[in-house]
Amino acid sequence: MKATTAASSAGPSGTSSAFPAGSGNTRTAARIAPHSHIKGLGLDNEGFALPSASGFVGQNIAREACGVVVDLIKSKKFSGRALLLAGAPGTGKTALALAISQELGSKVPFCPMVGSEVYSTEVKKTEVLAEVFRRAIGIRIKEAKEVYEGELTELTPTESENPLSGYGKTVSHVVIGLKTVKGTKQLRLDPGIYEAILKEKIVVGDVVYIEANTGAVKARPHRVGRSDAYASAHLVKSQRTEVTDKLRREVNKVVKSYVDQGVAEVVPGVVFIDEVHMLDIECFTYLNLLLESPMAPTVIFATNRGTSLVRGTDDVVSPHGIPVDLLDRCLIVKTEGYTKEQVADVVQLRAQVEGLTLGPGVLDKIAVEGERASLRYALQLLAPASVVSQLAGRSEITLEDIGEMNELFLDAKTSASAMGDFEGGLRR
Ligand SMILES: Nc1ncnc2c1ncn2[C@@H]1O[C@H](COP(=O)(O)OP(=O)(O)OP(=O)(O)O)[C@@H](O)[C@H]1O
Ligand SMILES: [Mg+2]
Repeated sequence: MKATTAASSAGPSGTSSAFPAGSGNTRTAARIAPHSHIKGLGLDNEGFALPSASGFVGQNIAREACGVVVDLIKSKKFSGRALLLAGAPGTGKTALALAISQELGSKVPFCPMVGSEVYSTEVKKTEVLAEVFRRAIGIRIKEAKEVYEGELTELTPTESENPLSGYGKTVSHVVIGLKTVKGTKQLRLDPGIYEAILKEKIVVGDVVYIEANTGAVKARPHRVGRSDAYASAHLVKSQRTEVTDKLRREVNKVVKSYVDQGVAEVVPGVVFIDEVHMLDIECFTYLNLLLESPMAPTVIFATNRGTSLVRGTDDVVSPHGIPVDLLDRCLIVKTEGYTKEQVADVVQLRAQVEGLTLGPGVLDKIAVEGERASLRYALQLLAPASVVSQLAGRSEITLEDIGEMNELFLDAKTSASAMGDFEGGLRR
């Protein structure tokens, strides 16, 4: 009957950012959708990669390295550092970053952005970075609730002499009898609860819900009129306002006091900056500063560039276009390409997630395409091929549909070489 629940008042997921997320959540969802088959790094107890687990296929060394990073983060030995995932397009860098955040816990916020997002005309570059770092710090509000629920069988206020009260006597506590599926129980509760019961016009025989520490008392929904009134009280219109520095400071102050009191805990999330080579020297300098902050989230970068010019400079050439002082702080993990068999396994996983049936020989054909072009290209064939097969009134994708895909669309390599021929033709 008595239940002590650790409830969270911070939204359905139990974690919410202390700072308004703007439209970030929808953006995040759209970016994560192609990775919905990824459930973690798929490592065994010793940290070795299983050939195919948690939606991950192959890429063993990178997965194991990411496992080590997860251990470092969990033992708080990764602060002030960042992980850099380097590898060709479609080799699973984003998938690895997501898997790391999943391994850190289901409530850990994952905040992806692309380097070029900092170039907005309205907001300063550094502010865009600061915002994503703020969004990645989650706050988990812990609330211990003492909850009683059952049919009210007894309601006896106990009075006692109170010399301070003009009436001589006041209610010192209330004795409540509750009948539940587990039996009956008598409780001695605070007088505030007696008042709440009177106010709610609850009588013996009603089913009640009592929160002992807040004094909240509710009649259970079988009293329809009352519960409707209660529900409407919660329809408070949510208003969006601009987040001023003053408001942010106020929020930070409240959060800090919650943390100090042990009512809330800070959950550092994961900031993922894809195409990190698109940032410029000003951003990189600022990132060094952000990494130093005591409340910094875990930072993961990804790039598919080799040695290149650091943006915003005329002459600084550096690996991945990242200045050496920031590179120094990075652990670098390389991702490799996939074999035909591995492409086939991933395509099969995606087909399952998307509810698509592949006809005979289709998987093999897509895998060949994937090995020739890229894994991403192979995966991207699935959706349009399913549209074509549906248009033809079929429920499964056939070889014919894939053939048609190849007639209609080009993969990047074929497209580039076609352009090359064309340019050559022009020049001659
Ligand atoms: N080893 C893997 N196992 C299962 N799925 C994978 C694996 N590697 C990549 N994928 C899936 O393949 C697709 C492309 O991978 P991803 O987007 O992670 O590549 P990327 O390295 O981030 O590419 P880019 O450089 O273009 O951003 C995604 O849907 C991803 O979930
Ligand atoms: Mg990516």
